[in-house]
Formats: sequence, C-alpha cells, structure tokens
Amino acid sequence: MSVDVEPDQLAIDGARPVRAEPWPTYDKGDVFIEDEDLDLVLETIRARLYFRYDHRPYELTQTGGLERDLAAFFGVPHALTCASGTTAIALGLLALDLPPGSAVACPAFTFAATPSAIRLAGHRPVLVECDDDLHLDVADLRRRMTPEIRAIVVVHMRGFASDMDAVLEVAREFGVPVVEDAVPALGARLRGRPLGTFGDVGAFSTQSDKSLNTGEGGFMLTRDPSVHARAIVYAGAYEGRMSRHFDGDPPPVDDLAMPIFGLRMDEIRAALARGLLRRLPERLAAHHRNYDRVAAGLADLPDVALRRPVADHAYLGEALVFRVPDATSAQTAWIAAALRAEGIAARALGDPGDTNVRAFWNWRFLFPDAAKARAEYPVTARRLDEAIDIPLSANLAERDCDQLVHAVRKVLAARGGRGA
Ligand SMILES: Cc1ncc(COP(=O)(O)O)c(C=O)c1O
Repeated sequence: MSVDVEPDQLAIDGARPVRAEPWPTYDKGDVFIEDEDLDLVLETIRARLYFRYDHRPYELTQTGGLERDLAAFFGVPHALTCASGTTAIALGLLALDLPPGSAVACPAFTFAATPSAIRLAGHRPVLVECDDDLHLDVADLRRRMTPEIRAIVVVHMRGFASDMDAVLEVAREFGVPVVEDAVPALGARLRGRPLGTFGDVGAFSTQSDKSLNTGEGGFMLTRDPSVHARAIVYAGAYEGRMSRHFDGDPPPVDDLAMPIFGLRMDEIRAALARGLLRRLPERLAAHHRNYDRVAAGLADLPDVALRRPVADHAYLGEALVFRVPDATSAQTAWIAAALRAEGIAARALGDPGDTNVRAFWNWRFLFPDAAKARAEYPVTARRLDEAIDIPLSANLAERDCDQLVHAVRKVLAARGGRGA
C-alpha cells in the first residue's frame, strides 16, 4: 500500500481522519461466547452454589471442571484457578518455597503487576534489560545472576514469547526455578507448545483484556504436585478442603502449617471461563489473522521495526508493538498522537506526558527517581522510547486492520521532523 501525503493531510492538522469510529479495544464486548455457554453460567447462578468448596465433590464444581479443562487444554497435570493474574504469579512464587525476601529477576519491559506480584509474595524484584525486540535479554540475565537471585519470572510481554530455551538454560545453570508470566499471551504457542507450560509455573489472567475474559480472575499451571498443593492452600483451601483436589489421596502438604490468602476463584466466574475456553481456538485464530495482516502491511517500512518473534508465529497477536528506530520519546509521542487523531488507539510506551505502567521508570514503588531508573536500564529505556503500542482486539475486521496500516503509513510519511 503506498500512501502519498502532504503534512496538511493529517487529521492531527485538521484533515479528515482515516476512520471516524472508535478503535475497538478489548473492553468493548470482545467476548467469544454463545447461548449454550451462558446457560452454564445461568445454571450456576440458579443453583445458588457460588463457593467452590461447598458440599459437592471437586468434579461437580465449576472451578474443579475448569481446572480439569485447563489442564487438558494446556497438556499439564495441574491447574489452579485464582483471583487474578497478579495473584497467580504470587501464588506460584509462594508455592516454590523460596527463602523470604529473595531477589527475583524479571524483565524491565512488563506491566507493573509483575514486580508487584514478586512483592506480594514477599520477595524483591531485580530487573533485567530487554533486547531490540523487547524480549527479556538473556545475555543480560546471565550477567545479572547472583546467588541472591532465587527465581526468574519471565514475561511473554504483549503476547510475544520469550526465548524459553535460553531462559531455561540460564535457570538450570544457576539452579533456580522459572515462573512464566504468560498473562499477556494466553493461548499463544512457541514451537507448538503453549506458553506457560515451559517453566516450573505458568501464570495467567482472565481479566477483560485477556483471551479468556471473565472480568477478573486467573489461574496457574504446574507439573509439580507439591507446588500445586502448596498453591491450593495459599489460595485459601482451609480445614482439609484441599483434599478434594487429590481424588481422596492424602494431600502432600500440611495445610495448617501454611497461611491462607483468600485468592480463590468463585463458581460463577469459572462457569463463564469454561464456555470461553471452548471458543478460545476461534479467538486465537482471529488474533493471528489480524496481526499477520497488519504486520504484512507494514513490513516494508524502514521507519517501522516490527518485533521479530523468537520462532515462527510465537506470538498471540493481541497487540501491535513496533519501534520507530532512533525516534526520541517526544517524536514517538507525537506519532502516537497523530495516529489517535486518525482514529487508532495508539500509545507511545515512553511518552513523557503519560504515566504508562509498562514503562519501568514510572514504578515509583521501586524507583523513586525515574532518571536514575532509566540510567540503570538504558537499553530498555531507549527501546521503550521508540515504541508504539496499539491494541488488536480479536473482533477487528479486515477493514479495521487496513485502516490501521493506512494510518501508520500516512503518519510516518508525513511526519517530517515533528515532535522533536
Ligand atoms: C504482564 C502482566 N502480568 C500480570 C498482569 C496482571 O493480571 P491481573 O490484572 O489479572 O492481575 C498483567 C495485566 O494485564 C500483565 O499485563
């Protein structure tokens, strides 16, 4: 698609925008659900049994059913539903039984919830740089590994798989477990295997921006029965209720020896998630279709550095993040503003006028001084300054994708030196 424009043809200068309708974002009813799925939710409400640990056996509860469905979908022995993605990460870390106050590595490009979850579990986040493609930089991880670092939380940020082979190699070398924050990549695969099944724990969210949208919620996956058992207790299985997860076998942990944090999922939400899980393949295909159409439309632009996946199709496709190489944060912010004027919900990740919590220097709970934080992680700071982030809801039509491509090409062609 070639676009010939003069600067005064941009909507930011008052010209007609590429699109007049709002850009579809995840919270606009982007839910793949049919009447039969809703029936299950209504049945659950009519049954008036909303708590997962009532008199029913595990297999007759919606939470129990969802956990079995999730374990089958991901091909792992154990799934535990919980309150959110943040608490799924924290439960994973708690269940790994690290010494209290351990240092835990995580990438500098992530949502604020990742270091927050490390804090919630009683540990200390240590950030690691990201590379040009905004994946965790494994060489920097290796450089920063010290005996104090007792676990690695890797994040498949904005749906793109991290290089799990390389991360697991470092983890093995240093003898530490890996938690995958797969919250942004629910359903995405790396070389055929679902993200969230490579590490010791995989953590997911079912909040409204995610591929399973139950408003709020989350779950964790593990192959390790004792990690699973400890997470069940921490999530809030008290007075022997955890035994229901073990088909009558004696549970492998002493529940009274552990605190409980009230992070359970409820029955209504679990019923909703079961319907959504059945529709997930349809939604995942839509994400790939949209992403691939948009990426193909931008591939020839020298001003657009698309993220290179670590393997063929190793991404979810629910967001388009690209860099404008060598752009300053002010220039990238101007490009994002020009795209918004064209009707595309773009954000510059490093926009100095924004408090985007995907920019680590805005995490004042860790970094009271933003400039110092940026100086500590200069590569990630620079890459985020160049990055534009656009949500790609699964319900985008081809026309929406083409308008996005048109808007990006138009704005980049006409930007000149603006925003400097
Ligand atoms: C990378 C990442 N981790 C964790 C979370 C937290 O998920 P939740 O909002 O369900 O706690 C999010 C939320 O979007 C996220 O993007």
